Amino acid sequence: MSKLTVRLGKLELRNPTILASGILCSGSLLKRAAIESGAGAVVTKSLTMDERGGYPTPVIVGVNEGLVNAVGLANQGYEGFLSQELSLAKGGKIPVFVSVAGSDSKEFRKICVRAEEAGADAVELNLSCPHVKKHGLEMGADPITVRKLVKEVKGTLKIPVHVKLGLSDSLKDSAIAAQDSGADAVVAINTIRAMAIDVHARKPVLSHVYGGLSGPAIHPIALRCVHELYEHLSIPIVGCGGVEDWQGAIRFMLAGATSVQIGSAVATRGVEIFGRVAKGIERYLDAQGFKNLDEVIGSVHR
Ligand SMILES: Cc1cc2nc3c(=O)[nH]c(=O)nc-3n(C[C@H](O)[C@H](O)[C@H](O)COP(=O)(O)O)c2cc1C
Repeated sequence: MSKLTVRLGKLELRNPTILASGILCSGSLLKRAAIESGAGAVVTKSLTMDERGGYPTPVIVGVNEGLVNAVGLANQGYEGFLSQELSLAKGGKIPVFVSVAGSDSKEFRKICVRAEEAGADAVELNLSCPHVKKHGLEMGADPITVRKLVKEVKGTLKIPVHVKLGLSDSLKDSAIAAQDSGADAVVAINTIRAMAIDVHARKPVLSHVYGGLSGPAIHPIALRCVHELYEHLSIPIVGCGGVEDWQGAIRFMLAGATSVQIGSAVATRGVEIFGRVAKGIERYLDAQGFKNLDEVIGSVHR
């Protein structure tokens, strides 16, 4: 067991870096994130019941310190991905978490059951997409809905259930509802609703007008969310938002995250980011004289 090994509930990760959902979508790209770049685990694109073409282009734009995207949950539908791509992703020999985006508790349950049967190591319930109606943020921002969904899914699965929440006034209450209903971990946060405007065209850049902001611009907000959740939860928290280097990952862990997801930086800095961040964390542990990451996690609260 190396210094970088972390336990995420029942799962053991070789290091705390995880590929965030929606960034690399095919099974072979997920495998590459594991083998060539050293991620500790990978999350699939969010899967819906039926194939979704997503919104017309443009669906993503670079802004100061981040990206705004409204891809529209484009994916091939759960059955296609789980029967054709998941086994390729598993070839990376690290845990593969299947992200699920249903529109009601029945859909969540159905996709999750199939994901477990197909070999997922955990499911991540996406209750936080900010730009697709009925598939996200409005579910995660309502603690009663969160409770119902998590209970429904937990009642039928053996693999861990992670719940991904977004920025809302009820983040804390929704996270507590997820924990009370048996969630194994909470992931915080998804992108934050935003937009970009082209001054020459005098028009919104994205076809969908509003999208979700990711990257360094949201990091301090995500950090605050993790810090606050740590005060109220006993299950592991996975930090997500704007990690571009080892310092970002360590900040999340000091605030209370057990592991850290990386999304936009894979696009802006290359897939090698996982290995670089893991190496930086290892050097930090050595320089600070820490034996393992347990000594770091949540230590800003002590
Ligand atoms: C192009 C793009 C597509 C995304 N698709 C998904 C998705 O399908 N499901 C999901 O839960 N999050 C999705 N996200 C959100 C990321 O997983 C992550 O929560 C967010 O980008 C913040 O992390 P980052 O700043 O490291 O990118 C997407 C983000 C981007 C930029």
